[in-house]
Amino acid sequence: MKVFITRIIPEAGLRLFREAGIEITQWEEKRELTQQELIDHCKQADALLTAGRSTINAAFLKECSHLKAVSLFAVGYDNVDVPEATRLGIPIGHTPDVLSKATADIAFLLMQNTARKAFFHHKRILNGDWNFFEPMANIGLDLQGKTLGVFGLGKIGFEMAKSCKGAFEMDILYHNRSQNAEAEEKLQAKKVSFEELLAQSDVISVHANLTEETKGLFNKETFGKMKPNAIFVNTARGAIHNEEDLLEALQQKTIWGAGLDVTNPEPMDKDNVLLSLPNVAVLPHIGSSTEETRNNMAILAAKNAIAGIRNERLPKVVNP
Ligand code: DGY
Repeated sequence: MKVFITRIIPEAGLRLFREAGIEITQWEEKRELTQQELIDHCKQADALLTAGRSTINAAFLKECSHLKAVSLFAVGYDNVDVPEATRLGIPIGHTPDVLSKATADIAFLLMQNTARKAFFHHKRILNGDWNFFEPMANIGLDLQGKTLGVFGLGKIGFEMAKSCKGAFEMDILYHNRSQNAEAEEKLQAKKVSFEELLAQSDVISVHANLTEETKGLFNKETFGKMKPNAIFVNTARGAIHNEEDLLEALQQKTIWGAGLDVTNPEPMDKDNVLLSLPNVAVLPHIGSSTEETRNNMAILAAKNAIAGIRNERLPKVVNP
């Protein structure tokens, strides 16, 4: 039995394949595979473990309908045509839970960095622009006692809310399809309409999946409904906000700042104007990037692929 892996992943996951007697082929080039290269490799494999943004669409699934599992090294599955995979009987695995805290930590870090303009001040020193003490230059905002609005309160949103409550005694609002009883009980979180979330939050942190409903939802109109001192944080998917509208909202001071771990497109161009703004912090999609979390993701992704190869139910499966 064979697995094709689209990136170099931690040994903790590779070991499980070896122990299961599964032959590993890993893509080691530092570029995304073309769709044809992916298909060609998958034709030689029984399962695919994909890290990165490979498109698992109907055309790919048709060519590779023999696959016994597609295992994502990610929690998000917006790059996969799940209904088509389900129709063809291909189980799709993903890695929820194990990355929730690390990803929420990046949202928290971006919120703080934006509020205190930390990345900007770091750049100032590098540019030789630390000459004397200026009490009024480039000052930030306090977070203590402010209101966090969580857009999409799943596991990651919960961890972000917990950190904000613990560190800054923030009030928690959330907008979600379903009610989150745990957040309401433990964090006194309040479920509100999207309009209320926009109008009442000092920080809005996006933790929703990318779907037709959420695509471009944060745009000129919705930024316009936020507080002028609001901070927008997105660690979910870049396509949930409209980047041109975000830039305009920041330049026109419609909102105060933004912290992004996800952009649209990715990678972000190094000359993107957003990078030059003092109230903006951008990271290159590193939400789950800690040693411990990546090891745990590798283990779970390997377990998903191995279960598929053995015709067993995947431990964390996306298909209904
Ligand atoms: C995830 O786990 O979905 C990350 O964003 C990586 O794609």
